[in-house]
Amino acid sequence: MTGPRKLYIKSYGCQMNAYDSLRMADMLAPEGFSETNDANDADLVVLNTCHIREKAAEKVYSEIGRLRMMKDEAASAGRKVTIAVAGCVAQAEGAEIMRRAPAVDLVVGPQSYHRLPRLLEQAARGERPVETEFPAEDKFDFLKNPTREKIRARGVSAFLTIQEGCDKFCTFCVVPYTRGAEVSRPVAKILAEALRLADAGIREITVIGQNVNAYHGDGPDGQTWTLARLLRRLADIPGIDRLRYTTSHPRDVDDSLIAMHRDLPELMPQLHLPVQSGSNRILDAMNRRHTRDDYLRVVDRLRSAQPAMAFTSDFIVGFPGETDADFQDTMSLIEDVGFAGSFSFKYSPRPGTPASDMDNQVAESVKTQRLKELQELIDRQLAAFSRNCVGQTLDVLFEKVGRHPGQIVGKSPYLQPVQVMAPPSLIGTIAPVRIDDTGSYSLFGTVAAQDAAEPPRYAPLAAMGA
Ligand code: SAH
Ligand code: SF4
Ligand code: F3S
Repeated sequence: MTGPRKLYIKSYGCQMNAYDSLRMADMLAPEGFSETNDANDADLVVLNTCHIREKAAEKVYSEIGRLRMMKDEAASAGRKVTIAVAGCVAQAEGAEIMRRAPAVDLVVGPQSYHRLPRLLEQAARGERPVETEFPAEDKFDFLKNPTREKIRARGVSAFLTIQEGCDKFCTFCVVPYTRGAEVSRPVAKILAEALRLADAGIREITVIGQNVNAYHGDGPDGQTWTLARLLRRLADIPGIDRLRYTTSHPRDVDDSLIAMHRDLPELMPQLHLPVQSGSNRILDAMNRRHTRDDYLRVVDRLRSAQPAMAFTSDFIVGFPGETDADFQDTMSLIEDVGFAGSFSFKYSPRPGTPASDMDNQVAESVKTQRLKELQELIDRQLAAFSRNCVGQTLDVLFEKVGRHPGQIVGKSPYLQPVQVMAPPSLIGTIAPVRIDDTGSYSLFGTVAAQDAAEPPRYAPLAAMGA
């Protein structure tokens, strides 16, 4: 059953979901689905959901409520709208979604979206399928490749999944359950995808995985490749001028990866390295399997290899048993490192995870207070980091036209949006920009003259700590 139909995908949660949403659209394109930005226009709505915190899961049910009304209205006008729930809520509570939300036509887990065409046929017959197995086949072998035009229309920077799942089992986290065991894609398949991206005009690739630096994929030479080795190979691809990887675990930062930050000019001097807490007692209860000092040592070694390095992190406040002293340990770790931004969350008990059964849960009001303090400190560090960029010249990869006439916007090596007055012909290129000012979120600058000599790819920033 094909024919022109409209697809609307809404993505929640992490970069893995953002990537998966694009691949679902690619999978459905040959079925006659074209994408729309307007849910009201859609014949098929896919909610690609996140289960990481309670609020994230609740959002799904309120969104389904809104969609149900839209679906009913369309039905009274004689148009059938299909609602699919994908992603980590689908994986964690697929059967419950079907019970609670009769408007949902199908549920598909993150490892099964290559089966969407078949599931849609079943849904059309009124079957309401729930597909949350971890299938034996590799979904990537069945996914359809997007055209060059489609890749480029999505921007100059792309995500590429190289690893999925997690074996770490932090006691607060649902990911090992929703995404399953750690699996690395083979090098040859990753290279083929990277070459396709480069050929379509992509300049920056961010390789992604729930635990990306645990990557250990089969190489074409019969050896197991590390992330470092993969990055070195990706850096050789003509046209790929910027590389990033996310999200990393402190335990899996090895010497070879640190060396890449020294040796590969393509590897951006910015790393998202979640630490969660600065208290050894809490890190132990979280089963993070690293200490505060381990983390600080990794940061130091990376800064020695690459002085321009900037760090961002994730923090959880109010983990069960967290005392004021534990929280102060987190605050002092933040002071010691000096972050260029971070994500921080109140601990949210997740069904089925060990921490949700711990009996020393922290009061909501305490969590709120600690989160506020922590975010104020991070905001101050972020502001200092941005101010420190003023007067420096940073390489900017231009991505799109800006909101004001004559303006274009790109990203600094540190992922800061940079706005300049310059012709749109610069979009898709990297140029040095002198940073003149900072806004609350972006930087403002002027395109600097290209030196005849090789320009600095990124200006070293003063160490942010202390
Ligand atoms: N794989 C990544 C990201 C995991 S989820 C990693 O290991 O870092 C992203 C962030 O959500 C985590 O780093 C953590 O800070 C937060 N998070 C995960 N579970 C949570 C929970 N139960 N309550 C609050 N925050 C949580
Ligand atoms: Fe979750 Fe920990 Fe795995 Fe990250 S490392 S995905 S926080 S279990
Ligand atoms: Fe959320 Fe699943 Fe990502 S729970 S953070 S969408 S792996």
